[in-house]
Amino acid sequence: MPSSQAAEATQTGMEIITRPSSMMQAYLESSIDWDRLPPHLADAARYGTLGGGKRIRPVLVILSCEAAGGRAEDALPAAAALELVHCFSLVHDDLPALDNDVLRRGQPTLHVHAGEPMAILAGDLLLAMAFGELARMDMAANRVTALVDELASGTRDMVVGQVYDTLGGLPTDIEALEQIQLVHRNKTGALLRAACRMGAICAGAADAEIAALTTYGEAVGLMFQVVDDLLDVTQSTEHVGKATGKDSALGKRTYPGLLGVEGSQAVIDQLHQQAVAALEPLDSAGEPLRDLCRYMAIRTR
Ligand code: IPE
Ligand code: IPE
Ligand code: MG
Ligand code: MG
Ligand code: MG
Repeated sequence: MPSSQAAEATQTGMEIITRPSSMMQAYLESSIDWDRLPPHLADAARYGTLGGGKRIRPVLVILSCEAAGGRAEDALPAAAALELVHCFSLVHDDLPALDNDVLRRGQPTLHVHAGEPMAILAGDLLLAMAFGELARMDMAANRVTALVDELASGTRDMVVGQVYDTLGGLPTDIEALEQIQLVHRNKTGALLRAACRMGAICAGAADAEIAALTTYGEAVGLMFQVVDDLLDVTQSTEHVGKATGKDSALGKRTYPGLLGVEGSQAVIDQLHQQAVAALEPLDSAGEPLRDLCRYMAIRTR
């Protein structure tokens, strides 16, 4: 890692993601049977999944599982399932019909690399593979069913959010701030909430622990998209690895668009505090999730 990046990693507390995200990367590379696919589809699916990405959702699954007393290894298929859904959502989000983006994770987007038909179909494939991962969970059937339910509802809500974001249709009898919350809680918050709950389920967590991790997941889930909106107006394309300065041109509802940069930062600070407060019942077992939340609040890419 170049020294400027190492300094940034230390400043933002990025070390907290190193171990779980490397575990996820290794699992995605070697435990998924990409070679069963026709070579051009395998290339597209690997391209959309393996090339970069912070792996925040799997990191949340793994750290939530550990915070509730479980083992990271046992949560890996569930963590991979969530990352596959996330990668599918990014591939489709970048399509010309949605955000029309040509750069993702510092590389050409999948539809630029392999063409639009392949990007649509590879996205479909990743979604199916995600649910296939849950069938690999070595745990009691009722827990596997609960994981399927979480992944299905998180994915459903993500799609609802993408529809609101892209096509509108939001309720008109609520304030602008409530409208944008609805978009963000769905399009991004839902998968982060599901990540925390799936980690808890993998650990066989008690109801009180699941409730604490759900509240944490809801706060960090919304916060994550507010930060993403802020990075769109404060960071360069080169630094973030995807086009910035585009949201307002596309007419997107964003926090900086509604509240300005300082107002958005205040919302991030508030959600950060809410997330940390939610971890109290977990005592010291919640410390890694507290560090992760801090990193998610101050990340710059
Ligand atoms: C980008 O997510 C899309 C949003 C929901 C904000 P990430 O910032 O987690 O993207 P990667 O996976 O690290 O590339
Ligand atoms: C993405 O929101 C939400 C998804 C469900 C993929 P954005 O459209 O803001 O994500 P980026 O900025 O392209 O990563
Ligand atoms: Mg989008
Ligand atoms: Mg986008
Ligand atoms: Mg964005």
